[in-house]
Amino acid sequence: MELIFATYNPHKLYEIRNALGNKYTVQGLGDLNEKEIPETGNTIEENSLIKAEYIFKKYQKACFSDDTGLEVSILNNEPGIFSARYAGSGKTEDNINLLLKNLIGQKNRKARFKTIITFFNENGKHFVFEGIVHGKIILEKKGTEGFGYDPIFKPNGYRETFAQMPLDEKNKISHRGIALRKFLNNLVSK
Ligand code: IMP
Repeated sequence: MELIFATYNPHKLYEIRNALGNKYTVQGLGDLNEKEIPETGNTIEENSLIKAEYIFKKYQKACFSDDTGLEVSILNNEPGIFSARYAGSGKTEDNINLLLKNLIGQKNRKARFKTIITFFNENGKHFVFEGIVHGKIILEKKGTEGFGYDPIFKPNGYRETFAQMPLDEKNKISHRGIALRKFLNNLVSK
C-alpha cells in the first residue's frame, strides 16, 4: 500500500517506515517536491487536518499528517500551535527560556503534549487519532536526549524528564507514541 506522510521531517519518516515494514511505501513531502504547507488553523486539530486534506485533494491517495503542541494550563494552553516558534526565532533554546520566564513564580506548572494524526483513506474518508501525555514544566532543564521542550517536561508518575529517558522509553508513553500506535493499529486491522 502506498501512503503519503505530510512531513519533511526525516526522523518521523524513518520512524513510520520502520514501524510499517515493507508492505507499505511511505513518501514524504520532500519525495514529492512539495513546498511547506501553510499551517493556518487555530488549533492542533485544524492544522493536522489542513495538511492531510491538502495532500489528499492534490494526489487522491491515502495520506496522513501529524501535528503536535505543548499546552500549559496556566498560560491558557500556550504555546500550543505556536510551540515550534514560541519565542519567534524558531530556536529551541529561546522557546524553553521564554516558557520558563513566563512561569516564574507559578506554582501551577501543569502541562500536556498533544499530537493529532489525521488520516485520509484512498476514498477520501478521514479519521483522527489523538495522543496526550500529562505532566509538568520543571524549574530548569534536565537531560540531553530528545528535542524541543523535552528537558523541561516531566510526565506524571515519572522522576525523569523526557530528555532523561532513552527514546524507546519516551515513545512508550509519549503523545506521539500513543497517537501513532492508535493509527497503526487501525491501519493494519483493515
Ligand atoms: P510538530 O508538530 O511535531 O512539528 O511539533 C511542533 C513543536 O512542538 C516542535 O517544534 C517542538 O517544539 C514541540 N514538540 C513536539 N513534539 C515534542 C516532543 O516530543 N518533545 C518536545 N517538544 C516537542
